[in-house]
Amino acid sequence: MRGALQSLGPADGPSSAAEFVEALGLWDEQGRGLRPRVVAVMVGSADGRATVQGRAGGLSSPTDRSVMRELRTACDVLLVGSRTFIDERYEHLLDPGQPERRIARGRTPEPVLATISRGLDPALASVPLMGRSDARVRIFTEANRELGPSGAQVEVLHHAPGTLTARGCLQDLAAGGARLVVTEGGPHLLGALVADGLVDDLVLTVAPLIVGGESLSVLAWPVFDPPVTLELGAVLRGEDHLFLHYALRTSR
Ligand SMILES: NC(=O)c1ccc[n+]([C@@H]2O[C@H](COP(=O)([O-])OP(=O)(O)OC[C@H]3O[C@@H](n4cnc5c(N)ncnc54)[C@H](OP(=O)(O)O)[C@@H]3O)[C@@H](O)[C@H]2O)c1
Repeated sequence: MRGALQSLGPADGPSSAAEFVEALGLWDEQGRGLRPRVVAVMVGSADGRATVQGRAGGLSSPTDRSVMRELRTACDVLLVGSRTFIDERYEHLLDPGQPERRIARGRTPEPVLATISRGLDPALASVPLMGRSDARVRIFTEANRELGPSGAQVEVLHHAPGTLTARGCLQDLAAGGARLVVTEGGPHLLGALVADGLVDDLVLTVAPLIVGGESLSVLAWPVFDPPVTLELGAVLRGEDHLFLHYALRTSR
């Protein structure tokens, strides 16, 4: 059946994106001390590439999209790198019915969209989500200026030059009440988060494609020595896409 997930283990595993997210215990998350729990979700080709013609969409599938949207449904904050926010032209974060499910479980109708742009890239202003009056956006920056008028509820959070770190951003979000952050990368932000021990879970979709070339891989960062080890939690299949949940034991 299109859109269904088949669990390959453990036994009696989830059979839909909503059940998959439920099984991760995200709805009841209380955070990780000074920072929220951080769940990264990425899609890569079988050869590890993160884009087809510069966008992730060519790797995705209806089931992959539903997993992403269910993760968004459960989180307090959706964190994306400024490049991803701009290139992927974010607009609507949720599907019909998901805001109501959030409200029923004590959440706001939609997560806050947070992004990090040290230089406060002016192109942020042209992302479609920035024109939605009900969208809430937090932009972490080191730039000593504002972004200009926007239709969305935008808060620009200034850090002194040279002091903006992913950990600092997460701590700010936790101080504002965030207990669960879902990050959709991109590869550079994911690298920074993993390098700093800030990712608790990785939900990785492997798309049934070989892309080749030299485009970005799912994570862009210098060599991890030793490599970061992952603990495999769940393996699911949706058509020919594979959905893997890993826990990162290096998180701190
Ligand atoms: N396959 C997937 O699942 C997936 C997911 C997301 C994105 N993508 C694709 O990946 C591409 C964009 O990814 P990307 O890696 O180039 O960009 P990114 O990670 O989305 O954003 C990088 C930008 O974030 C800002 N940033 C702030 N603090 C940072 C830190 N500590 N480390 C790294 N960046 C930091 C930087 O902007 P400042 O210099 O302004 O601070 C940097 O240029 C797009 O083509 C998108 O389609 C694929």
